[in-house]
Amino acid sequence: MARTEPTSRAAAELMAKYEDYKGTVSGRVKDTAEKAKTTTPAELWNDKVAMTFPPLPSNSIGGVKVSKLLKVSSKKLPGPDFDMPMFSQSESWPEDVKQYIPTLDEPDIENYVFSTVPAYWFCYAIRLNKPAFLSGVKGCGKSTMPKRLAAELNWPFLRKQMSKTLDSTEFFGNWTVKDGETKFALGDLPQAAMAGMIMVVDEFSNAPNELHPSLHQVLEKNGRIYLNSSDGTIAEKIIEPTETFRIVATDNTRGQGDTRGHYAGTDVVNSATMDRFRVMIVMNYMTKAAEKQVLMDTVPQCTDLLAGLMIDVATKVRAAYDAGDMSETLSLRPLIEWAEKAVFTKDIMGALEYTMLNKIDSDSERQEIISYVKTVFGSLLD
Ligand SMILES: Nc1ncnc2c1ncn2[C@@H]1O[C@H](COP(=O)(O)OP(=O)(O)O)[C@@H](O)[C@H]1O
Ligand SMILES: [Mg+2]
Repeated sequence: MARTEPTSRAAAELMAKYEDYKGTVSGRVKDTAEKAKTTTPAELWNDKVAMTFPPLPSNSIGGVKVSKLLKVSSKKLPGPDFDMPMFSQSESWPEDVKQYIPTLDEPDIENYVFSTVPAYWFCYAIRLNKPAFLSGVKGCGKSTMPKRLAAELNWPFLRKQMSKTLDSTEFFGNWTVKDGETKFALGDLPQAAMAGMIMVVDEFSNAPNELHPSLHQVLEKNGRIYLNSSDGTIAEKIIEPTETFRIVATDNTRGQGDTRGHYAGTDVVNSATMDRFRVMIVMNYMTKAAEKQVLMDTVPQCTDLLAGLMIDVATKVRAAYDAGDMSETLSLRPLIEWAEKAVFTKDIMGALEYTMLNKIDSDSERQEIISYVKTVFGSLLD
């Protein structure tokens, strides 16, 4: 028995320390709560020190207000209205970079409608050069939002799809033989960095796990790219991105893995990598009004009535999916597809069948969706 004595004394001391610690913490919490009672919210902020943003990039031709870009009144913004850099297609960029500026009439972005709050935070990230991570369900506009913004501002843009087979030589660069000469050919990342593009690393968690840590340096403030396998001096191996280079990741997950088994190929992203994304944006489906607008803009034959009812069905499917009762959702992409087929055949159920229902294995889930369509469209189906 005597042998356990010192141990239990140590345990008692530890316990006492812990009680002390708890006392201090609860004391602090109490102090803070007391303070909050006697101060006003205005005392939280110090408006005497002006907020300043860094100057606009030197190759921009001026600024455009976020509210103007997002086509909303500045009162609707979740923070102050600030300037985004506007570039000139013909004058801001070197000849070989101009080709990467997307144009507003490209089919995937021509009808794009910004959702105010996520788009505001995205602009904030781009303006302040903070790496952004865009997460959200499939088809909510993660890949197209950055492209649309790039098109609005005449900013060169590159979307790079991640996959398990991608290796870092494709990303960083590679030794190749050209005209009998062995040369180090720069990969997509250093090229985009030197050209000052907005680079979207799409489906980020699909990248091989080894790739993520190699991006750490470029994701940091004043981030650089170190070309490990190139030759020359250390200085020659370092690529300094130009002032307009931006890096954005998109993913269906929040970097913590796919908890529901819907997105094959996704992995948990190293949490040290996630820390380097300084703006985390979770996107969702658009508002009904905005979605209706997109649907009618994209499928001109689609009436207001048809668009509204289709979105009502989609809303039910999405709710069931979000609640875990449905294995498939109805995002904007299949919604547009459904509308295109419906206006072509004038057969609402058949159009849905050949768009989405046939992708669902479970009989009961299919029946469930059919019942939504029947409830929403009612006698209009006859
Ligand atoms: N806000 C939006 N306004 C207009 N079209 C949109 C919007 N969001 C998505 N889309 C359309 O839906 C499709 C899917 O968008 P995408 O950006 O590829 O989704 P994600 O990358 O989130 O899976 C694209 O054809 C795109 O044009
Ligand atoms: Mg995408």
